[in-house]
Amino acid sequence: MEKETIYILAIESSCDDTSAAVLRGNTVLSNIVSTQKIHEQYGGVVPELASRAHQQNIVPVVHQALVAANIDKKQLSAIAFTRGPGLMGSLLVGTSFAKSLSLGLKVPLIEVNHMQAHILAHFIEEEGRKPPRFPFLAMTISGGHTQIVLVRDFLDMEVLGETLDDAVGEAFDKSAKLLGLPYPGGPLIDQYAQLGNPKAYEFPKPKVAGLNFSFSGFKTSILYFLQRERKKNPNFVSEHLNDICASIQHSIVLILMDKLQKAVKQTGIEELAIGGGVSANSGIRKALQQIEKEKGWRIHIPKFEYCTDNAAMIGIVGYLKYLNKDFSERTISAQARYRL
Ligand code: KG4
Ligand code: ZN
Repeated sequence: MEKETIYILAIESSCDDTSAAVLRGNTVLSNIVSTQKIHEQYGGVVPELASRAHQQNIVPVVHQALVAANIDKKQLSAIAFTRGPGLMGSLLVGTSFAKSLSLGLKVPLIEVNHMQAHILAHFIEEEGRKPPRFPFLAMTISGGHTQIVLVRDFLDMEVLGETLDDAVGEAFDKSAKLLGLPYPGGPLIDQYAQLGNPKAYEFPKPKVAGLNFSFSGFKTSILYFLQRERKKNPNFVSEHLNDICASIQHSIVLILMDKLQKAVKQTGIEELAIGGGVSANSGIRKALQQIEKEKGWRIHIPKFEYCTDNAAMIGIVGYLKYLNKDFSERTISAQARYRL
């Protein structure tokens, strides 16, 4: 019997990116992401504006994904969508759209956990890249999440540690805001950091037990530090921006690497998969490269397009669940808090 060709249309709308992708098996044919710019002027994502923008973007984004993949919707095998976690108003747009489309096309519906998708993005077929081998440790670091997960198999995962408050991307963005940089400031901190001295200033490391993280105290310590220094010199930030950014970045890198090393020690697993928008950070990449060289651990980072929020990662989970015939009822609803 000839093997069935599986085409998955995937939809992601959990935060401020409206995205649709078409996959043939584990290969991405298209991955369209419409990033909402409206939030920049508010210094963070405004939930109500995000859901309105998804509402406007969803039809054109899905249409574009089908056109770019050169696939007619009648060829689709299933519709995968992000059920959660995320902003309820945002999730509802993608969920309702996916449910209606699956009903209209009479194809199965597949719900996807966004965090699982960040991890399984490593299994998207990419030329010259080998996926991680099980079991491995996945660290997802972005504006919305900070998690270390033990991955035993495709759909068998256990959260070992996560942030108790802010995500690491928020630590970058909120620090940037204190320095007067525009949102999202993470990439700007990275840029200035490359010109500065990472040991110019020291910030206290949060004391959090086990493999959990906390960044809210870190942000407060930067606030107090800047208040103190500005009292002595009102131009402190502009005169020392590179050194401040380098020191902030260095501290965050140390926090992440410390927990990662603890996780390796605890599990004995030396295969690491990193994902999420913050994995673009040059300091984090350098530290990981060094660990790879010194300790012989294997580090996997997917293409940046699959690190930030995107529908291709939803599609790969959709494909794996399709193989397991793990389909959802059309009565399913979005879930803002959705554990792995
Ligand atoms: O994955 P992502 O695009 O969206 C979600 O939050 O889900 O991640 C965006 C986050 C933002 O906080 C942004 O500042 C941060 O990733 N980011 C960076 C860098 N590039 C993006 N943070 C530090 N250095 C970077 N180079
Ligand atoms: Zn995400």
